[in-house]
Amino acid sequence: MGNEIGIGMVGLGWMGQVHTRGYRRLLDHYPGCALTPRLVIAADAVEDRARESVGWLGYESWTTDWREVVEHPEVEAVSITAPNYLHREVAVAAAGAGKHVWLEKPCGRFPAETADIGRAIEEAGVTSMIGLMYRHAPAVEYAKELIAAGELGDITHYRGFFLADYASDPNGALTWRYKQEGAGLGVLGDIMPHTVDMAQNLLGPIESVSAQKETFIRERPEVPAGMGTGHFVVEGGEMGPVENEDYVSSLVQFENGARGTFENSRVCVGPHVRMSFEVNGSRGALSWDFQRLNELELYRSDATGDRGYRTLFAAPGMGDFGNFQPGAGISMGYDDFKVSEAYRFLSSIADGRQREPGIREIVSAMRVVATIDRSCDSGRWETVGETVSGGPSESRAAERGKGGA
Ligand SMILES: NC(=O)c1ccc[n+]([C@@H]2O[C@H](COP(=O)([O-])OP(=O)(O)OC[C@H]3O[C@@H](n4cnc5c(N)ncnc54)[C@H](O)[C@@H]3O)[C@@H](O)[C@H]2O)c1
Repeated sequence: MGNEIGIGMVGLGWMGQVHTRGYRRLLDHYPGCALTPRLVIAADAVEDRARESVGWLGYESWTTDWREVVEHPEVEAVSITAPNYLHREVAVAAAGAGKHVWLEKPCGRFPAETADIGRAIEEAGVTSMIGLMYRHAPAVEYAKELIAAGELGDITHYRGFFLADYASDPNGALTWRYKQEGAGLGVLGDIMPHTVDMAQNLLGPIESVSAQKETFIRERPEVPAGMGTGHFVVEGGEMGPVENEDYVSSLVQFENGARGTFENSRVCVGPHVRMSFEVNGSRGALSWDFQRLNELELYRSDATGDRGYRTLFAAPGMGDFGNFQPGAGISMGYDDFKVSEAYRFLSSIADGRQREPGIREIVSAMRVVATIDRSCDSGRWETVGETVSGGPSESRAAERGKGGA
C-alpha cells in the first residue's frame, strides 16, 4: 500500500490495545489520512501477551524486549504505552533513533523526566503526540471555540475535576501505579495532567497555585506473582505501603485573570470517571462531563429571557464528530478519541506540522503539576516557573515512601 508508515508498540495493556485499535480504525474514520499505519512489531514484558498481539491485534511480529521495537529498521513511529517508569528510557531511545513518538501521559514518573523527554524530542526534531485525548471530544472542541470567540464574555471562573473510583477498594492490588519506582506521582501524575491540560487548553496558561494532597488508603495488598497490570482486587493478601497520593485539590490563578479550582481523586466513591469542567464568564457559562461526553451544557445570559443551562448534543460540524457519526444523539465513545489522536499523530508526521497535544503541551502541564506538588509541600501559594528542576529529590522520595504520601 502506498504511503505506509511502520508502527511499533511498547506495552500491550489497556492503553496499548486502545492505541492499536486507534491505528486499525484510522482509515475507516479518516479515509483521507496521508499515511496508512502498518503494525510492524509489538513488545510486552509478559510473553503471552506479546505473542498474542500477532493473531489478536494484527502485528506482524512480537518481542519481549522493547529495544527491538525502537531499533527495528521498518518502524518509523513508536507508541509508548508501558508503565510510567519506562516512558523516559523508551522515549529518549526512540527519539534518538529518529522515530516519531505517540506517548501516554504523564510522560515519565516526575515532571523532571517529562522535561528530559521533551529535550530529547526537540533535539531529534521528531513528531510527538501525547495521550491527553479528552481534548478531542467534539463537545470540548466546540466549548473551546465558544470561549475563544468571546461568546461567554470575559472568563472569570474555572472548575476542573477528575474524580475517579478506580482505587477506592482498599483491597485494590498494590500495582506499579502506587509506587514511586513504578509510577512516581500518584493522582498528580495519573490524572492531574488531564485536568491541567484541559484548563490550559481552554483558558491559557496557569500562573500560580495553592494546593493540598492526601493518601487515604495507605496500605494495599501486594501483587501476587504472575499478575501486575491493570486494576484488580486481592483478598487477604500481605499488605504493603502506598507511596503516592490518592487526592489533590488546588486553588488556581490563570494568567488571563480567571480564578479556579481543581479537584482530583482516585478513591472518590460515587463518580466513576468524572473528568469535567465548568467555565463561567461575564455573559455565559458552559460545562462538560466525560461521563456524558456527547453533551455540552451551555448558558448565555443574553440569549433569551430564560434562565439556566440548556443541553447541546454533539453533532456533525462540532470537532471531528462527523468522522464518526452521521447525526446528533448518536453517541461517540472513548476509543474514538484515540482514533482522532492517531489521525493527528500521523497527519503531523505526514506534513511536518505539529498538532496539539504534543510534547510542548505535556511539558507545560507537568510544570504546573510540579508547582502543585511544591505547594502541597510548602503550604503556600507557588508560582509556575519556566523550568522544572529535579522532581522530588531522592530524600523526599524516600520520605514519602515511609509516610505514605
Ligand atoms: N490517556 C489516558 O487517559 C490513559 C489511560 C490509562 C492509562 N494511561 C497511561 O498509559 C500507560 C499504561 O497504562 P495502562 O493502563 O495501559 O497500564 P497496564 O498496566 O494495563 O499496561 C501496561 C503494559 O506494559 C507492559 N510492560 C511492563 N513492563 C514492560 C516492558 N519492560 N516492556 C514492554 N512492556 C512492558 C505490561 O506487561 C502491561 O501489559 C501509563 O503510563 C498510564 O498513565 C493513559
